[in-house]
Amino acid sequence: MTQHPPLVIDRTGSDIHAELATLRRRGPVARIELPGSVPAWSVTGYEAALRVLGDPRFSKDPRKHWPAFRRGEIGEDFPLIGWVLMDNLTTAHGNDHSRLRRLTAKAFTPRRVEAMRPMIERATAELLDELAGVAPGEPVDLKRRFAHPLPARVISDLFGVPEEERAELLRGGEVNVDTTTSPEEAAANVERWHRQMHEFVERKRRSPGDDLTSDLIAAQEANGSRLSPSELVGTLHLMLATGTEPVMNLIANAVHALLTHPDQYELVRKGEASWDDVIEETLRAEAPVAHLPFRFATEDVELGGVTIRQGEPVLVAFAAIGRDPSVHGAGADRFELSREDKTHLAFGHGIYRCIGMPLARAELQIALPELFRRFPDLELAVRPEQIKPQSTFIMNGLESLPVRLGPEGGRG
Ligand code: HEM
Repeated sequence: MTQHPPLVIDRTGSDIHAELATLRRRGPVARIELPGSVPAWSVTGYEAALRVLGDPRFSKDPRKHWPAFRRGEIGEDFPLIGWVLMDNLTTAHGNDHSRLRRLTAKAFTPRRVEAMRPMIERATAELLDELAGVAPGEPVDLKRRFAHPLPARVISDLFGVPEEERAELLRGGEVNVDTTTSPEEAAANVERWHRQMHEFVERKRRSPGDDLTSDLIAAQEANGSRLSPSELVGTLHLMLATGTEPVMNLIANAVHALLTHPDQYELVRKGEASWDDVIEETLRAEAPVAHLPFRFATEDVELGGVTIRQGEPVLVAFAAIGRDPSVHGAGADRFELSREDKTHLAFGHGIYRCIGMPLARAELQIALPELFRRFPDLELAVRPEQIKPQSTFIMNGLESLPVRLGPEGGRG
């Protein structure tokens, strides 16, 4: 195989799909360089990703399995330091991971999520009522007015975050995915959300409510969970961030895909494609989590024609995997609701598979049909090429989504 120099990842995420296509041409596993000149590997092939995601020789714990971090070579100035210093499921390995997963996953089983549907429907209706007050021809940013507040409201209600604290506590998730922040900003952000989250936990400890934060605190106090104070704070941060950011991107990406592919929207209108087709095809072609840090090889591993050395970091490129031509053929990049095989790994796989998958799907199943039922003439308010991507290579989303809603109920 040709030896390529590492591809320097564009921290602004200006064209994620083009970058991932370049990587894919270099093989299913290719060398990259992360901001801060940190070398790593990227997995863009479906088969190789299945292997990485299912192989216990890949750990997510930098404290145990990233020698460069243990040696002090990865400092507070590493732009992705937030992803290293978190103390939660995404940085846990082995028994620690199973323990943390057991504590959180039970709140998001399909049965528990079914019971959340009325709450999601209410939040959707309230946001759409607010949008109905906008003049039909006036541009609105659908990301700011709908795609973000819907999952933010749902996850904040579940975790008992009061209205007045939401913006600040959810900002932790936003800043963590922005890969254009300076090292100083990144370190300050980590410090700030740690402090805010600690204060939130202390308030909940003093006056618990009927919410998942209070449940986690109760589990900690019952002493069976062995949940450390730092894990409790880390877990809450993770739940608020993952409960909001990728769902927001999935809503925005799905709406954007339909508005830029009128022929596909027409299939939905005529009942020839379902909303589940829209959701799964968006997850495949526009996976909301694009290029996720971190895994570390705990020993040398042969994979996709390369040897990943012990201690080397690996990122899984979910946004590339859904477009792998060896699974989806030459038309893998096209957004096509009628394709039979919509295989993707957008929610991960195996023991790390997303615990929020049923909730995310339920939110989309409610949000998309309601949005288009009330505003069937929804259209972009700018030219497609004026829509900018979110400034990150970790997530696949839009900076904003300016639309015109059209009259409620449509022009008839
Ligand atoms: C469309 C929305 C979502 C997408 C695309 C998504 C994607 C993912 C992916 C790819 C992983 C695997 C990470 C890995 O293998 O390293 C993951 C894990 C996770 N997700 Fe999601 N997610 C979404 C929504 C949610 C929601 C709504 C929640 C919470 C309510 C959530 C909570 C989590 C948690 C806690 C994990 C860690 C699981 C573990 O390490 O065992 N996610 N998600």
